[in-house]
Amino acid sequence: MTNTGTRTHCFTTCSSPADGTGAAQHRRGPGPGTTGRAGREPSGTEGSEGRQRGKAAQGRARSPSWVVPPSTRPATARSAQHLRRGAQNGTRRGAAPSRQAPRTHLPPPPARHPPAVGRWLLVCSGAVAGAVVLGGVTRLTESGLSMVDWHLVKEMKPPRTQQEWEAEFQKYQQFPEFKILNHDMTLAEFKFIWYMEYSHRMWGRVVGLAYILPAAYFWRRGWLSRPLKGRVLALCGLVCFQGLLGWYMVKSGLEEKPDSYDIPRVSQYRLAAHLGSALVLYSASLWTGLSLLLPRHKLPETHQLLRLRQYAHGTTALIFLTALSGAFVAGLDAGLVYNSFPKMGERWIPDDLLAFSPVLRNIFENPTTVQFDHRILGIASFTAVTALYLFSRKIPLPRRTRMAVTSLLAVACMQVGLGISTLLLYVPTPLAATHQSGSLALLSMALWLMSELRRVPK
Ligand code: HEM
Repeated sequence: MTNTGTRTHCFTTCSSPADGTGAAQHRRGPGPGTTGRAGREPSGTEGSEGRQRGKAAQGRARSPSWVVPPSTRPATARSAQHLRRGAQNGTRRGAAPSRQAPRTHLPPPPARHPPAVGRWLLVCSGAVAGAVVLGGVTRLTESGLSMVDWHLVKEMKPPRTQQEWEAEFQKYQQFPEFKILNHDMTLAEFKFIWYMEYSHRMWGRVVGLAYILPAAYFWRRGWLSRPLKGRVLALCGLVCFQGLLGWYMVKSGLEEKPDSYDIPRVSQYRLAAHLGSALVLYSASLWTGLSLLLPRHKLPETHQLLRLRQYAHGTTALIFLTALSGAFVAGLDAGLVYNSFPKMGERWIPDDLLAFSPVLRNIFENPTTVQFDHRILGIASFTAVTALYLFSRKIPLPRRTRMAVTSLLAVACMQVGLGISTLLLYVPTPLAATHQSGSLALLSMALWLMSELRRVPK
């Protein structure tokens, strides 16, 4: 491995549990391949790293590869020492001086869990993302109030005969949505909205099983460390809570409100809680999965890097808050009050911004204020991502980290574009659903970047 002066080269050769070959080698321990590779390295440092890795692997030859005895840790410490030395020297012998950060490839961190655990969590986060998208489409097609009761097992069997369908339709006819909004609905139309809601609920059950069954299996096999057990338990608890919150939200749309002239819809507070808890579940699963699979980069802990890490955390929090405020826009149909951009109607600050009393109520209940806040938060998130990108350009970073920053900026541009188009076109279902999915994509990029910038424990 040579220092070519290009920024990325020395970061990318990092053999890691995430990279297939590195992981396989790490798992197999010292085989002919390992020794051969170390022997072929042109640099003594790479060779010694290979030998260290070989020794560490020999030490754990009899135990499953992910159960690493603490005695292998000094190898990491020694490599860290070597890296510090590299950092002091700045460049390798014979190479031209460059702004490049010192080489960052540590030997693979002692993995305590088989990679299957990390992959499982990534699959789970994907399943949660699917549920969020399906939930958004269910809401946008106004299908969410078609199933008027909730049974964990009984409702899994859909109506089959004409009689069963008519009985289901009659139940729906007792509730405000039919009476006020859909009184001329046909059975065929009812079947469509019913199946939309049914698919969202069934997908929710699949997500629950995707968490609980593998968790039980990994637990029994002893593949989870103590801290991970706690986290997995919390995730399984959260997935059950998510189902209960869903029903709690639906119930708010089924209640009769004699004083209200508004169309029946679920409470925006409960919608935000349902979406918010899905986002927490998604983020926690993705974060844990990435932390288990992606090795950390050993980056020099400069002042600039610390600031970049702080910016990344702040930006992720801002994106999360923006997504949550989007749930209030969706819950109040606030995307339909001012359909112009950048001004709201003829003004930058609309007249009815503080029309409700007390003032605080406007933030969560006045559609104008809710839309205004979401615009401001959306633009603030975009500005924060752009600033993060520009700041990151000043710091030498590994290639994968740079990819994460660039992807974050690209997705932020797309998300703001989608938000503005959704607004200008009066919230068409496909666009609004894509905008909602975009928020998950943006959050994922931000979490990926945070995971790239994780500190190496001392
Ligand atoms: C980082 C930027 C943004 C994020 C993360 C974000 C996120 C979200 C989310 C999660 C929703 C809820 C969707 C649902 O539950 O169906 C939403 C709704 C909405 N957003 Fe954004 N948004 C962003 C920027 C913007 C911008 C800049 C605008 C326009 C100026 C905008 C306009 C809307 C509109 C009109 C809705 C309501 C759509 C509906 O009724 O389904 N968003 N946003």
